[in-house]
Amino acid sequence: MKTHRIAVIAGDGIGPEVIDEGVKVLDAAAARDGSFRFAFERFPWGCEYYLKTGRMMPDDALETLRGFDAIFLGAVGYPGVPDDVSLRGLLLAIRHGFDQYVNVRPVKLLKGAPCPLKDVRREDVDMVFIRENSEGEYAGSGSWNHRGEPNERVVQEGVFTRKGTERIMRYAYELARREKKTLTSISKGNALNYSMVFWDQVFKEVGAEYPDVETHSLLVDAASMFMVKDPKRFQVVVASNLFGDILTDLGAAIAGGMGLAAGANLNPERAFPSMFEPIHGSAPDIAGKGLANPLATVWSASQMLDFFGHGALAQELLDVIERLLLERKCLTPDLGGTATTSQVGDAVVAALMGESHYA
Ligand code: NAD
Ligand code: IPM
Ligand code: MN
Repeated sequence: MKTHRIAVIAGDGIGPEVIDEGVKVLDAAAARDGSFRFAFERFPWGCEYYLKTGRMMPDDALETLRGFDAIFLGAVGYPGVPDDVSLRGLLLAIRHGFDQYVNVRPVKLLKGAPCPLKDVRREDVDMVFIRENSEGEYAGSGSWNHRGEPNERVVQEGVFTRKGTERIMRYAYELARREKKTLTSISKGNALNYSMVFWDQVFKEVGAEYPDVETHSLLVDAASMFMVKDPKRFQVVVASNLFGDILTDLGAAIAGGMGLAAGANLNPERAFPSMFEPIHGSAPDIAGKGLANPLATVWSASQMLDFFGHGALAQELLDVIERLLLERKCLTPDLGGTATTSQVGDAVVAALMGESHYA
């Protein structure tokens, strides 16, 4: 029987709480399918590990992870360790080290999910963000001179290479073509006179290969406004690392909340393992209380199944999430329910296994 080997990095805060449910659900999905299984190996890396060892993960972590078929990650970052240290030392190190240059983030209002927008039909919120995930504003390069002096100067560089920009554009165009969707590029070429002018140019150049794809280009400020006022404008969206990060939290807000927002960090060439995670953070405000919504993690598990070629099963898992949302019997407090994190995970498993009475 085929085995998918998964490295599990539960991480910090609500990370371990939601990832336990994700693992449970993946095991159930495999059992239901019967043609493959998962083998999970857990790694205790994160902020607690940092406080004990001075590192977020061991020096040879990437070598260790490289042997796996995928990584399943909860959340990273916790008060007590500076965020730039914890995230650079783990999450960004993996995304960059494994060239997971595509970050796929669906912003789709599932049936039954709450939406704060007025006068918006459910089907109007149905987009997928293709976020550049390897360079751009998060390249990590820059300088900090004359610390503490009056002439102190900090430079944070946005690094946009032709290779990096072309490949993300191409991935987005291919997706738009395959799904017969429009493609919207997010820019700020009016103020970012190098990076975003280049971004716009490459969007057009690559677009010449896809005359069948209808394109739009929006400045990021206007795009934020339109996501709220007229979300149906957006289908496939391609954005730089920073803009994609910010707009997908906004996307979460209009598509059911942080507890429902999933993301896949892909190395499409499969030269390295890809990583699947909810897009939310460690939520210190609710950690350790069983309040965290595990459905974003379950959705990212569905993305993993899809990536492994189990498309029908991936869709079933989304259908199960919708069923829970519509029934409203077993939801966490962020969705107006009273269920705990693990009760929701159990309900997903029960629904997936076809049990009529769950929770
Ligand atoms: P956050 O996403 O952790 O929390 C924002 C708000 O959303 C909080 O009120 C939280 O309670 C709520 N929320 C988030 N996930 C939820 C869930 N599953 N169910 C119910 N409510 C949920 O963002 P933050 O507070 O800005 O960041 C906290 C820490 O997480 C920081 O250290 C940050 O750097 C880190 N972070 C990590 C990741 C990651 O690992 N991928 C992503 C974002 C932030
Ligand atoms: C996300 C997170 C990360 C990002 C942080 C924690 C570095 O916000 O995955 O959305 O900005 O990529
Ligand atoms: Mn984010």
